[in-house]
Amino acid sequence: MTLKTILTFLNYKLTAYTEHDVHSPFVYNFYTELIKNKHPYNDFELLGKLREELGVSSKTIEVTDLGAGSKKLSGVKRSIRQIAKHGIAQKKQAEFLYRLVNKFNPKTLVELGTSLGLTSLYFSKAIPKSTLYTIEGCPNLFNFSKKLFQRQEAKNIISLNGNFNSELPALLSKIDSLDFLYIDGNHAYEPTMAYFKMALQKKNASTIIVFDDIYWSNEMERAWKEICANTEVTLSLDLFYFGIIFFRPEQKNKEHFVLKF
Ligand SMILES: C[S@@+](CC[C@H](N)C(=O)[O-])C[C@H]1O[C@@H](n2cnc3c(N)ncnc32)[C@H](O)[C@@H]1O
Repeated sequence: MTLKTILTFLNYKLTAYTEHDVHSPFVYNFYTELIKNKHPYNDFELLGKLREELGVSSKTIEVTDLGAGSKKLSGVKRSIRQIAKHGIAQKKQAEFLYRLVNKFNPKTLVELGTSLGLTSLYFSKAIPKSTLYTIEGCPNLFNFSKKLFQRQEAKNIISLNGNFNSELPALLSKIDSLDFLYIDGNHAYEPTMAYFKMALQKKNASTIIVFDDIYWSNEMERAWKEICANTEVTLSLDLFYFGIIFFRPEQKNKEHFVLKF
């Protein structure tokens, strides 16, 4: 962590709101049901076991990174254990994402960045009747995750191998509407803004977009600020690890909250 990230995190900790500080009923419910509520779902046990299994695997994989890289992982050859510990959404974040989609029940979901496929399985299990499209650029990670999906009989996951830059527009042209997008790869300004603008073309009133690692770099911070300021975004939530946006038309005045996660 750089000094700047530490200061940003401290500032976040000191200024973030809890349910007592928000007046919006929507955000109050969001906080109490999804962040404060620690009640486990049955699926968490199996997903936790899978996480443990990946977390001790010494198997290595050759990674092709089409994105902005990783601060904690370097080199082409990486162990599954390292990726599971440093390259994917951790337990708390993944369980939050499970609760989030379970509450809003999006029908069509897109994940940019499959990696090992573990977070895809949280989505898949949270809403088995929905369809999750997950895109991964690295062929070896794509194959690894595909095997994991087959092993878990996750029939509602359609995994795609290719660069987000070409796969996302191709996918969006095929689907009627995008209900949920999780952007978890290529954390740089230009691509993040490009994916956001592509998603705007297929959004609906209840679409939710989650941006991972909004404080990963100055570029990501800049992208996040611009996204929040976009006039189509009616509500933005800053959870430090995630930035989440909504387009709710019933929200007449644009609002932004920093919430303690
Ligand atoms: C942070 S990991 C995804 C973690 C995963 N969502 C999870 O929580 O389990 C990001 C992934 O995005 C992939 N990626 C980055 N940039 C890409 C691009 N431009 N096109 C395709 N894949 C990309 C990387 O190969 C990496 O596996």
